[in-house]
Amino acid sequence: MALDGFASSVFMAPMAGITDKPFRHILHECGVGNLMTEMVAVNAIQFKNPKSYQIADVLDEPYPTVVQLMGNSPALFAEAAQLMVDLGAKSIDINMGCPVKKIVNNNAGSALMKDMLLASQIIEATVKASPLKVSVKFRKGWDNEHVNAVEFARMCEQSGASYITVHGRTKAQGYSGVADWDTIKAVKAAVKIPVIGNGDIDSPQKAKEMTAYSGVDGVMIGRALLGNPWLLNAVHQYLSTGDELPQPTISQIKEMLLKHIRLLVEYYGEKGGMAISRKHVSWYVKGLYEAKAFREQYTKLNELTAAVDLIENFFAKVML
Ligand SMILES: Cc1cc2nc3c(=O)[nH]c(=O)nc-3n(C[C@H](O)[C@H](O)[C@H](O)COP(=O)(O)O)c2cc1C
Repeated sequence: MALDGFASSVFMAPMAGITDKPFRHILHECGVGNLMTEMVAVNAIQFKNPKSYQIADVLDEPYPTVVQLMGNSPALFAEAAQLMVDLGAKSIDINMGCPVKKIVNNNAGSALMKDMLLASQIIEATVKASPLKVSVKFRKGWDNEHVNAVEFARMCEQSGASYITVHGRTKAQGYSGVADWDTIKAVKAAVKIPVIGNGDIDSPQKAKEMTAYSGVDGVMIGRALLGNPWLLNAVHQYLSTGDELPQPTISQIKEMLLKHIRLLVEYYGEKGGMAISRKHVSWYVKGLYEAKAFREQYTKLNELTAAVDLIENFFAKVML
């Protein structure tokens, strides 16, 4: 089934602390693919927490962005959903898969897979409150003894979700082990709404394998985009035309890394941007000559000009 209104069948995965506005900007520069925010707590939005507002505010983005909401109260989801139009969201995704203790203990994220009634009330309230499409992202189940993705998918469909994303791991697995594509296949067979498959896709070929194996309508990619923002578009091109795009050159990696750091500094200020840039820098240079020593030096820097110098020197040696 087609994913109406989306430019691509390939989605970036929401990742807290990573998929912020600067990262989306970078992904957009790399080509086509659907973009998403990090999760935003509905209660924080209600209390007008500036940080949550900042995460949810996508009005200035020149591409459609899906905003992901997280929480446990249908009423607060309804309030947050009403705000989403003004904040520029293309559509709303509901987080029912997060395994983080603080969130699960608060009966949100993947805890909702154990409370189908509340999960259904949340979806219905969100759908009713907003003209935007509402999707749900969830997991295979709570643990191996409680695998309920198929039942959960049917509930999402009946509650009004426009599409669903299933990550083929249980909450108990966190991010370890291997994603179970059989569950993704079973979910796809069980519902009529579009299904996005998620888990372990790290190449265009693997995206195609998952699509062929499970019949999903789209794929979602998370960790493999870290340091490789080109991958989203590469997967999009491969799935839509069969063309394999060339790997980025060292010089393209350098330019993208510099652009990413500048965007982070522009968005968060020099201190905050430089701190956040450290993890991105290590992902971009992974596997390059003497990357370890470079990372150690980079971590000590707090100023953009020093960062640019160090990066220029490092890449000059790598390109020799
Ligand atoms: C650091 C990190 C943060 C994440 N934050 C979120 C989040 O905010 N919302 C969500 O639904 N999933 C979150 N996830 C899960 C990813 O969206 C995705 O489901 C998971 O990484 C599996 O996909 P992958 O194998 O392509 O990485 C996060 C994952 C990681 C590694």
